[in-house]
Amino acid sequence: MRLVILDNYDSASEWSAKYVRNRILTFNPGPDNYFTLGLPTGSTPKGMYKKLVEFHKEGELSFKYVKTFNMDEYVGLPRDHPESYHTFMWDNLFKHIDIIPENVHILDGNAEDLQNECDEFEKKIEEAGGIELFIGGIGPDGHIAFNEPGSSLVSRTRVKTLAQDTIEANARFFNGDISKVPTMALTVGVGTVMDAREVMILITGAHKSFALYKAIEEGVCHMWTVSAFQQHPKSTFVCDEDATLELRVKTVKYFKSLMYVHNKLVADLEENPKAKKQRISQD
Ligand code: PGA
Repeated sequence: MRLVILDNYDSASEWSAKYVRNRILTFNPGPDNYFTLGLPTGSTPKGMYKKLVEFHKEGELSFKYVKTFNMDEYVGLPRDHPESYHTFMWDNLFKHIDIIPENVHILDGNAEDLQNECDEFEKKIEEAGGIELFIGGIGPDGHIAFNEPGSSLVSRTRVKTLAQDTIEANARFFNGDISKVPTMALTVGVGTVMDAREVMILITGAHKSFALYKAIEEGVCHMWTVSAFQQHPKSTFVCDEDATLELRVKTVKYFKSLMYVHNKLVADLEENPKAKKQRISQD
């Protein structure tokens, strides 16, 4: 596991966007070789999406050969509702980049048969060859996607009832009116995310610091579902200083001493011939 500690939200957003950019460029996707991304919603990834849009507009990055799978969607909210995750993803990312709409996959929370919708989603991930990089955010209770405390750590995509804490936290998106917040969602399972070849978790803010502590300094436990990634062969936690408040000083010092290695992962790929090739093919 890597823990990448940046000064603040903006630098964590920039680091993660550069990491995604470099992973896509070095993968060098093409018509027979799509790069498959798992994506989150929420306030945390917004800064990363903004930067990815900038990279695209500057001609550094194309999403033409990228497929995406989103983590979750509310049940029963119209697709074009301002708070649906469909709307969030199009507003914050998809409408600003060159992704082909049929390569975007977001669960349909209005499907007639919700469990069938979830099963089909798993099948589509499999048909796409699995997920190369799954990006996630977490809640203060350590949930990943809508895998609330107590969720099975081998769970697959399914219908979930939201924890009261999550409903309360999400009320801010519904004018503070808790009665308007959907109480159910479709969500990928912890096992679905674990199957990705790589996982990157974004954690910012002091309110998430206890969850980060539980995620990395204590054991794997279904009450803190994000802790499952201790057993993933390739996971990266990207956080800001505030999110480290509950960690041991020695943990923070250790990972900070590795920052010179971590920063190489996001260095400009100007000299990388594969990256150059992709840029040229976009012109
Ligand atoms: P946030 O939500 O990014 O808005 O904090 C993350 C989550 O609850 O999963």
